[in-house]
Amino acid sequence: MIRYSKNFLAGITVVLVGLGGCGQNHEEQATANLKPPIQQEIEEIRPQVSQIVRAPVTEKTRKTYQWYCAQCHGIEGKGDGINAKLLTVPPRNHTKASYLETRTDEQLYEAIKFGGLSVGRAPCMPAWENTLDEETIHSLVQYIRELCQCEAL
Ligand code: HEC
Repeated sequence: MIRYSKNFLAGITVVLVGLGGCGQNHEEQATANLKPPIQQEIEEIRPQVSQIVRAPVTEKTRKTYQWYCAQCHGIEGKGDGINAKLLTVPPRNHTKASYLETRTDEQLYEAIKFGGLSVGRAPCMPAWENTLDEETIHSLVQYIRELCQCEAL
């Protein structure tokens, strides 16, 4: 039988805990992921956002939101989706103007396209760049502006 030293096993345990997902009781992990080196890495690898296009909100936008976003952000965007209570960091309430006024359209676009980490937010907000096309991501930004009935200040 192979004998592992205590330190080795302790090391493995730390790694496994570190690999935990974005579920409950991972508050420390969520904060750890926001450390500057990771931020820097993301800055380097992500393509520059060219320009915000005010894509119209269509039936497709609304359906996309219901299909891909509502399970966390809620059917009406109030941050109360079915998965909300399972996440360490609560999904944003997209109807909350006082918060969304503080975010630019570029930041919302980047959060949707490249995920929460790309804008200094939690990794529980997934990246959609491989799922949604440009037009849809732009229109989701406008849809969120419709939900909050607000613009960036
Ligand atoms: C797995 C759950 C989950 C899904 C699915 C999800 N989100 Fe999120 N989203 C989050 C969480 C959690 C946050 C909050 C991150 C934070 O505050 O640190 C967030 C934050 C955001 C933000 C705000 C970022 C900011 O600047 O504060 C936007 C915009 C957003 N989500 C849009 C979307 C859109 C659009 C979709 C669907 C295409 C979507 N989300 C799907 C969990 C989710």
